[in-house]
Parts: sequence; structure tokens; C-alpha cells
Amino acid sequence: TAYNVAVVGATGAVGETMLKILAERDFPIAKLHVLASARSAGGKVDFGARQLVVQDLATFDPTGVDFALFSAGGSVSREYAPKFAAAGAVVIDNSSVFRGDADVPLVVSEVNPEAARNRPRGIIANPNCSTMQLMVALAPIHRAVGIERINIATYQSVSGTGRKALEELGRQTAALLNFQDPQPEVYPVQIAFNVIPHGGDFLDNGYTSEEMKLVWETRKILGDDNIQVNATVVRVPVFYGHSEAVHIETREKITAAQARALLEKAPGVEVVDERVGGGYPTPVTHASGRDPAFVGRIREDISHPRGLDLWVVSDNIRKGAALNAVQLAELVIAQG
Ligand code: A2P
Repeated sequence: TAYNVAVVGATGAVGETMLKILAERDFPIAKLHVLASARSAGGKVDFGARQLVVQDLATFDPTGVDFALFSAGGSVSREYAPKFAAAGAVVIDNSSVFRGDADVPLVVSEVNPEAARNRPRGIIANPNCSTMQLMVALAPIHRAVGIERINIATYQSVSGTGRKALEELGRQTAALLNFQDPQPEVYPVQIAFNVIPHGGDFLDNGYTSEEMKLVWETRKILGDDNIQVNATVVRVPVFYGHSEAVHIETREKITAAQARALLEKAPGVEVVDERVGGGYPTPVTHASGRDPAFVGRIREDISHPRGLDLWVVSDNIRKGAALNAVQLAELVIAQG
């Protein structure tokens, strides 16, 4: 069997990679619709060796679409995802608008695939990129010994903010190397040669929305409301690949060797953990353009009797967004 697939936001950073991954994995496609705003309708996007004409989402008829992969921002999802679902499509939504809803499953393909079966609204939410790679790395440890608390600092690449942010990092870098003014537009301050401790919007508790996503999404995906999460989200001048310094406190003690052994056989994880220069994953050397969540720097926390430290790096556009979305579609097919 082959399926009718719509990619909503096909001209964006994530949409482009969804098309690449659908082609790479030879997803069984009957018809593929590439949708974006009226601004880019009539233009073309690549799908394998072919080029497809972009259609305007606003005038597109979703009848007959089996899978709709949305990555065009929250307001687009809020308005159009229910319409595609009502027309019979399984919607896989990369925005944050439905993630907290009790009747919308939030699924990491390797971690909680069973949750995808129960989708009363026809929508499955794709987790936030930083939560995604964290769950791939931590779920095996949580299942083995229980995680009580996660303390995390992220080092997030600009691609998570979208195509305009990729352009901004390039433009500012070139400007600064030519002694010109960097002119911030997407981020509130210069991102080139800088780090910015701010992702999303500031909330009343002093955390940002990107930080609180790590709290709520972790609990929902692992199905455990007792897990405490303390996050600091930082944007760094990297194009592709998020890194995370992760400190966990477990219910039962786990040694670094035990954790490494668990992670070595965990699906979606690749351990890179030699205690020498370059023996750890980085966005550029390992993650960019690749599928796994790479884990290194595994060590016991000298400041806590049940503490473990890890360094987790993954391509935020692939596993963090587009790849998991395609894996969820494959999962729905496999689950029948
Ligand atoms: P467009 O190129 O027509 O603006 P990114 O996150 O990389 O910025 O990409 C956002 C994606 O969402 C793009 O494909 C963009 O299309 C699409 N998009 C944004 N607003 C709308 C809209 N109102 N209707 C349909 N697609 C939209």
C-alpha cells in the first residue's frame, strides 16, 4: 500500500528535511502534496531527484490525505490541523499547540510508541527538539533505575528557530568579519560569536517557554509526573545540532559503566565516549545530518551519591523534528 502525504511548511527548515527523509527512507507515497503560504505557492522544492510545485495551504483541499506532517508554526497548526484530521488524515504536528492536550499523544518513536495508538482527535504531537534527544538518551536509564530529577543546560543551534535564523547567523558572521554592524533581527541580541540564555518567551516563574517545555514534555512522554526538571535553554552560534549538559539524580544508584552498557543497546542512541580529545560527540563532528542521539562524557557526579552526568548531542532538525515525524507515520502504518 502507498499513502497520500501532505507536508505543510514544505519550504521551511524542517519541511525541507521532512521531504529529504521521506525520500531517503523510501516512505510508501502515492501522492505527495507540498504546502506552504501563498508567498511561496508556485515555487518548487526538491523531493529526491524530482521537483514538486508548492501549493497554497489556504486553498488546498485535504480530502484523501492519509498523513499530514505539519511544521509551519503554531497558528497554522491550530487552524489547519483539525481540518486535515476531520478530512481523515493522521496529523503529525511539530508545533507546540497540541502537546499539552490530554487527548493528543506526545510520542518519541523509540520511547513511547504505544501512546500513538490512542489519538481521538487524529493528531499526534511531535515533541520539542531538545526534549526529543533528551528522552531518547534518558528513557533507558529511567526504566532501569528511575530518574528523580534532571538538571539540564542546553546549547541549541539556530536552525531550531527556522530558516531566517540560519540566514541571520550567516549574515552576522560575514558582517562581523568585514567590520560591519551585525544588526540583530530574529534574536534580540547578536548571535554570531555570542551565546544567548533565552529561548521562547519569558514566563511568570522566571523560566522561558522553551525551558518549561522540557519540564512538561518529559513528564508526559515518560508518563511520570514526579520527575523534577530544572532547565536553562541557551542559543549558541551553531547551524545544526543541539547539545545538552545533563545531570540526573536517580532513585537507585547507577554507575557510569552500567549507564554506558544500557545506552549502548538503546534504540536511537550512539555512545561516543572515549576519554581523550575528540572522544565525545559534537554537532559538527557527529550529529549534523545524522539520525542518532549521540551520548558521551558519561560519568558519576562527584557532588551527589546517585548523580550521573551525560552530554547529549543530536541533529535537532532530523531526530528533533523531521525524522521523528516520519518515524511516527511509519509507526502508525506498522500498528495498522
Ligand atoms: P513560506 O515559505 O511560504 O513562508 P521556517 O520555520 O523555516 O521559517 O519555515 C516555516 C514554514 O511554514 C515555511 O514553509 C512557511 O512557508 C510555512 N508557513 C508560514 N506561515 C504559513 C501560513 N500562514 N500558511 C502556510 N504555510 C506557512
